[in-house]
Amino acid sequence: MMFAERVLSGMRPTGALHLGHYHGVLKNWVRLQSEYPCFFFVADWHALTTHYETPEVIQDSVWEMVIDWLAAGVDPNQATLFIQSRVPEHAELFLLLAMGTPLGWLERVPTYKDQIEKLKEKDLQTYGFLGYPLLQAADILIYRAQHVPVGEDQVPHVEMTREVARRFNYLYGRELGFEEKALEAVKKLGSKRAKMYAELRIAFQERGDEEALLQAQALLQEAQSLSMADRERLFGFLEGSRKIILVEPQALLTEAARMPGLDGQKMSKSYGNTISIRQDPEEITRLVKTMPTDPARVRRTDPGDPARCPLWQFHLVYSDPSTQEWVKTGCQSAGIGCLECKQPVIDAILKEQQPMFERAQQYLDDPSLVKAIIADGCDKARKVAQETMRDVREVMGLDFD
Ligand code: TRP
Ligand code: SF4
Repeated sequence: MMFAERVLSGMRPTGALHLGHYHGVLKNWVRLQSEYPCFFFVADWHALTTHYETPEVIQDSVWEMVIDWLAAGVDPNQATLFIQSRVPEHAELFLLLAMGTPLGWLERVPTYKDQIEKLKEKDLQTYGFLGYPLLQAADILIYRAQHVPVGEDQVPHVEMTREVARRFNYLYGRELGFEEKALEAVKKLGSKRAKMYAELRIAFQERGDEEALLQAQALLQEAQSLSMADRERLFGFLEGSRKIILVEPQALLTEAARMPGLDGQKMSKSYGNTISIRQDPEEITRLVKTMPTDPARVRRTDPGDPARCPLWQFHLVYSDPSTQEWVKTGCQSAGIGCLECKQPVIDAILKEQQPMFERAQQYLDDPSLVKAIIADGCDKARKVAQETMRDVREVMGLDFD
């Protein structure tokens, strides 16, 4: 790709993070941060689209959420951590993209009607809520991020982002005499490379050969002799007759790590069945001890069936095969009691949380550390965002300097 490979993702600050966030999102971020340059941000404006009547919820959650990230192992020396509203360029790009985005694209996003239905207690018949996937598109496009780790529900947003980028490049990537300039640039590759480029381009354009496209992109990547403008043209020329200003991202689907809640449903704040990241150990013990189990086990001597027990779901997440075997046999033969069965789960959760408490402690002792990490991340993010905005303003005819 013409632009450095980047990962971007955001999270809404609307309450304490729980084990569902840890297993579903944060563990994935921690893995990605050593593989790619990563940008992770607090989506405070996004939170306002649903919590505009209770902004205090957001304010209270922002720093706690960042501490939870750090506790989970997100490393500020590897990843760039920032707050959306501190990079106001997101809003500028959102505004500019809004000009040419068809209303239908927003109305058709599946989460739109869904959420209005689901969150009945809130009035979401607002302009901000309708526009929220476009704000998300701006978040992604402003960093020219190729990879966006999201859950399944967010995939349509990334799809729409691709369409927004494509449309933008189509509308504003036009250049007088593009084709002639591109053909001139091909020559500058040197005859051997120029021939290969031409062949790969045809293979992609006429036969849809994606592999050829990748090879041609790699070839351009290596071509030292090109100016920035020519390079841009040749990347665009591969796929059509436009310059590429905004990069189409891909959703990086997090494999569905379904973290069960205390009642056996999916763990979610709205079900009130969560265990928080950095929850008090005694409270964790109490919560697990009072979890419902297979209703057939009224007495200690009644045999049970793990398939009907919410706690078994936790063993699937936390226990090794031999412990799982011990549970199955012990449950079905009434060889073990439910409290006994719960102990390994309690131990595993406490063990998982131990390093999180330890990592969080320094930030709790000195909150200025967290503020410094975010200030630094905001600076870094802003530099990248400003670079993109320079290009965007230029092609939209807004560079009046
Ligand atoms: N919409 C996401 C959510 O509700 C949060 C988010 C905002 C996001 N902007 C993003 C995620 C950009 C990925 C990329 O969870
Ligand atoms: Fe659930 Fe374990 Fe009790 Fe069986 S023994 S019902 S798996 S808690």
